[in-house]
Amino acid sequence: MRGIRRNVYAVGAVDWDSRLFDRLIPLPDGTTYNSYLVNGSEKTALLDTVDPSKTDVLIDKLLKVGADKIDYVVAHHAEQDHSGSLGDILLLYPEAKVVTNPKCKAMLIDLLGIEEGKFVVVEDGEALSLGDKTLKFIYTPWVHWPETMVTYLEEDKILFSCDFFGAHLASSSLFVDDQATVYESAKRYYAEIMMPFRKQVNANLEKLTALEIEVIAPSHGPIHNQPAFIINAYKDWASDEVKNEVVIPYVSMHGSTAKMVAYFVDTLIERSITVKQFELSTVDIGKLAMALVDAATVVIGSPTVLTGPHPLAAYAAFLANALRPKTRFASVIGSYGWGGKMVEQLAGMLPNLKAEIIEPVLSKGSPRDQEFAAIEMLADRILAKHKEIGIAD
Ligand code: FEO
Repeated sequence: MRGIRRNVYAVGAVDWDSRLFDRLIPLPDGTTYNSYLVNGSEKTALLDTVDPSKTDVLIDKLLKVGADKIDYVVAHHAEQDHSGSLGDILLLYPEAKVVTNPKCKAMLIDLLGIEEGKFVVVEDGEALSLGDKTLKFIYTPWVHWPETMVTYLEEDKILFSCDFFGAHLASSSLFVDDQATVYESAKRYYAEIMMPFRKQVNANLEKLTALEIEVIAPSHGPIHNQPAFIINAYKDWASDEVKNEVVIPYVSMHGSTAKMVAYFVDTLIERSITVKQFELSTVDIGKLAMALVDAATVVIGSPTVLTGPHPLAAYAAFLANALRPKTRFASVIGSYGWGGKMVEQLAGMLPNLKAEIIEPVLSKGSPRDQEFAAIEMLADRILAKHKEIGIAD
C-alpha cells in the first residue's frame, strides 16, 4: 500500500511474471493491475479492482490500509483485468455500491453476474462527493471499449484513466522514473489496444483538455506525475502525421522472398527511408504493432503457398487491418512457383487501411535482374509518394 496524495492509495497488484495477455499480446515486461483507494472524510471509494488472479493481493492491501468500509467501487471498464475481483470485493464489503455508467453496468451484469441492485449509475460529468474529496466521472468511450470512462479527483487534480494512457510494465516504482522505458511500453500498449480507435482517442484527448491534471493514474503501469509526457505522446501517435518509414513484415520458405526483402531494404535505406523489418515466424507482434503506429508505408513480403499468401503473411495482414494504423501506402513483394492469387488475397485483407496500393513485385522462383530492377522501381515509387505528402526530401 502506497500513497499518491493524502488519503489516496495505490492498492493494486504487480504481475511480474505474466508474458501473454488475452492469450495473444506479448508482455515482455509483465504488467500491473492498478486499483486505487480514495478515503474521503465521509465516504470511501475503490477505483477499479484487479485481475482475478491477483484478488488476494488487492484484499491484502485493503486490509493493510485499514479499509474496514468501502462505500463505492468505481468501475471504469468492464474488462476482467479490472473488474474480475469485483464479486469478491462486494462479498467482503457488502455495503459497497458499484458506481459506473449504463453500458458498463450492463456488461458487468453479463460478464460477472453482478446483481442489478448493487449499482449506482452516473451520467457523463456527474460528481460524487466523498466529503472532502469529489469524484467527477467523465465518459471516454472507445478507449478501448464502448463503456470506458475515467474519474477526475477534483481536490487532488488526479485523473484515474483506467486503460487510457496505460502501459504493460511491471515495476517496483509507483511513479514513472524512466520516461524512455515507459514510452516504449506505453506506445506498445497504444498500438495494441488504442490504435484501432484513433479518432475516439483524439476526441477523448480533446475532452480532457478542460481539466487541470497534475497526475494521471492509469490502471496498467506507472503513475504519471508529469502528465504532459504521456498526453503529448498520445497526441503524436493519434495524429494524422506519418513518418518517412516503411514497415516490412515478411516470411520466406526457401529464400526467394528473403532475397527480395534484403534487396528492397537496401534500396530503401539508399533513399534515406527508415526501414523496420519483421520476420513473421519469430516476430513479437507488439513490436510490429508499434512500428505500424507511425509508418507511412507497409510492404508485406510473402511466398505463395497453396495459391495464396503464406499463412503468417495473412496473419500479419489480418492484424494490420484490425489495428487500423494510419498507413498511407501499401504493397506486396514475394515469390511463386507456378501461379496463384497471393497479391489479390493480401490486398483484399486490408480494407480498413485506406491505403493506396503501390504496384507489387513478384518473382517466379528466385529473383533475377528484372525483379531487382522492379524492386528499385517500387522503392522509387514509395519515395515519390513520401515526397508528395511532404515527409521525404
Ligand atoms: Fe486493461 Fe481493457 O483492460
